[in-house]
Amino acid sequence: MSKVKKQAKVLFVSSEVYPFAKSGGLADVSFGLPKAMSDLFDISIIMPLYGSIDKKRFKIRQVEQFDIYLGKKKYAVELFTTSHEGIKCYFIESNILSNKKNLYGTPQNGYKDNDLRFGLFCKAVVAFVKQKNSYDLLHLNDWQSALCATFVKEDEAIRAKTLFTIHNLSYQGIFEKSTLEKLGISENYFHMDALEFHGNINFMKAGIAHADAITTVSPNYANEIIAPEFGCGLEGFLQKHQNKFTGILNGIDLSHFSPSTDKALVQNYDAKSYDKKAENKKAFLKERGLENSALPLFVFIGRFTWQKGVDLLIDALGQLDDLKLNIAVLGEGEASYHKQMKAVTAKSKNINIEFGYDESLSHKMYASADFLLMPSLFEPCGLNQLISMSYGTLPIVSSVGGLKDSVYPIDEYDSALTHGFGLTFEANEPNALIKTIQSALELYEDKKRLKEINIHNMGCDFSWNESGKIYAALYSSLVER
Ligand code: GLC
Repeated sequence: MSKVKKQAKVLFVSSEVYPFAKSGGLADVSFGLPKAMSDLFDISIIMPLYGSIDKKRFKIRQVEQFDIYLGKKKYAVELFTTSHEGIKCYFIESNILSNKKNLYGTPQNGYKDNDLRFGLFCKAVVAFVKQKNSYDLLHLNDWQSALCATFVKEDEAIRAKTLFTIHNLSYQGIFEKSTLEKLGISENYFHMDALEFHGNINFMKAGIAHADAITTVSPNYANEIIAPEFGCGLEGFLQKHQNKFTGILNGIDLSHFSPSTDKALVQNYDAKSYDKKAENKKAFLKERGLENSALPLFVFIGRFTWQKGVDLLIDALGQLDDLKLNIAVLGEGEASYHKQMKAVTAKSKNINIEFGYDESLSHKMYASADFLLMPSLFEPCGLNQLISMSYGTLPIVSSVGGLKDSVYPIDEYDSALTHGFGLTFEANEPNALIKTIQSALELYEDKKRLKEINIHNMGCDFSWNESGKIYAALYSSLVER
């Protein structure tokens, strides 16, 4: 009789998970990836219970209470749980973690006690794992959960392996040396091969140094970050740990991002009924006070940060007056960017800017647009280009990070290939964005070709299918080690 192999038990640890709390792509991946893994692994998710999370709406209930120690100081922690789309989700609640308005701080500054907040979160996660004594693997994500790797490593009673994923190296969680004492972490870790970073403490380094394996969210980003241009000061340290590295491209959750079923859209469509996409554009332009649906619609959706190429965007917006197009922007972030954007677009009737985060509006924009603008200066993976291709909207991207891995230049278009195509440019070339927008306007005149490429893109698989297989192999190899 064949024995049924017990599924390995995995805990996915993240500081944001869609739909509970989201500031960026990390949240989408933190639900989409565990969901994709759930056929093969007994996987649950754990995250902080921020004050902004609606407990009633998600039927989140308290399960237990326990105390943890950070140094000599005792903290009361509560564990909550719910199930979402069949995935078990846990939440850690504690005063300092949960009593803030935002997840991490303002766009300019992180909260001063983020060391304590996320140190406590990691300590509580590891205490939970120790108490359950049944987890085989902890999958950690970005600096907020990186310290779990150190706490697991120093406790011999915990047998779980750790995998650390870098979603964005430019946020590292850097704090003063006194953080060590606050969190009860031994001074022995205060050296350059562990947590020390120019006299400070660096949480990201804890994940890199102490996890059993590391992934980045695209293969190209894995290569970029071992060089100074994209290494954010950690390139040398990353090189030392290169043998633990795999670059795996993110996918998107098609039950959430599919134009044929998306409830936010005025008109659903798929590759076969591509022409119906135009209904969304008409409705959107009307709603936003933009005129002339014969003009191409360009959209930008994202955080207003340096990373996303907002400076390039503002520069381009200022030069678009004579061009025949409509542009819609949705995003939030640094106040100075809001101001600059308002100033350059004050007189333009064909530019609509919406400040804020609005999931449903963003879906409408993917469906309505002809082109998506993504002029990022660096982009570990990027999900917007994958979503836009699934919605038959041509991406215009800079050739960096995961954008380079997922959007191939349309000059190389070949319908026999299985990857997506778009307009690509080198971000550091002067006026590259505006020139590429001009190429897009020419392409817009060649309706047949544009439609063919968009329909090709809609037929590509941007889901977790392929990358999920690579993650599954990595999970298994770690568990079996
Ligand atoms: C971060 C990165 C982005 C990536 C996302 C999910 O937000 O900046 O490129 O797609 O994480 O991994």
